[in-house]
Amino acid sequence: MSKLRNEGPIGVFDSGLGGFTVLRALAEHLPREDLVYFGDNARVPYGIRSEQTVINYARACAGILRSLHIKALVVACNTVSAVALDVLRAELFFPVLGVIEPGTRAGLAQCPNGRLGVLATGATVRSGAYPRAALSCNPDASIFVRAAPLLVPLVEEDVLSGELARLCVRKYLEPLVLDDIDALLLGCTHYPLLTPLMASELVALSGKNLPIIDSAEAVTAELLQLMASQHLATERAYPGKLRIILTDRPDNLDLASRWLGRDPAELNVTTVDL
Ligand code: DGL
Repeated sequence: MSKLRNEGPIGVFDSGLGGFTVLRALAEHLPREDLVYFGDNARVPYGIRSEQTVINYARACAGILRSLHIKALVVACNTVSAVALDVLRAELFFPVLGVIEPGTRAGLAQCPNGRLGVLATGATVRSGAYPRAALSCNPDASIFVRAAPLLVPLVEEDVLSGELARLCVRKYLEPLVLDDIDALLLGCTHYPLLTPLMASELVALSGKNLPIIDSAEAVTAELLQLMASQHLATERAYPGKLRIILTDRPDNLDLASRWLGRDPAELNVTTVDL
């Protein structure tokens, strides 16, 4: 029974294709595991929606992955991790990991003065999930969380450099630099694509090379630990398969496959109706 469970895939879901940044880290560090990615691209963005709507969407996405007999679920979406993680954990019988806590721990580890800046979607900011995670990790931490609503459309349009992108990034980083942050945590799956631009703008604004942390690596490290402690790893010796399920025809698949570091022709993509 347990052997059978170990050969099940790991489920990953996000509101759209932004979670490919997390999927990429998982595929790199868990090359023998089967991965199934569910992207609700018919209903992206989640970050502008109410808490109850995000919870309803999260239940539906997790339900599809549960029916595929996953052995663990990684909620790549910060917005879902912020508002629906407890609901999913209470309703599902396999381990469910979100990105908020691992990301916050990794971010605070880079803050000598305990001052962490976070950029996230409006729904994530409103949830208060990042300050809660920071305070439970370090009661003396100071966390500065700002909504950055223009960044998801920029990434979706592949505008990752140039004057327009620079002005948008600067608009959100300026207040965080005034808050004198030690490090910047990217609280949305799309933002890692803007890391080079953010790094140069942080230098321009603060005169310092501030660390930028994205939660993909942090949640992958947490999953590896969990799989070791719960003996969940596959026993197969050959490379795992990657399956992608979306809720709409993916017209930005070519772009997103670059986020994943794969050729679009080699991706196994199907669509489902929710
Ligand atoms: N994937 C979402 C997140 O990480 C960002 C996009 C959205 O708003 O749905 O919060």
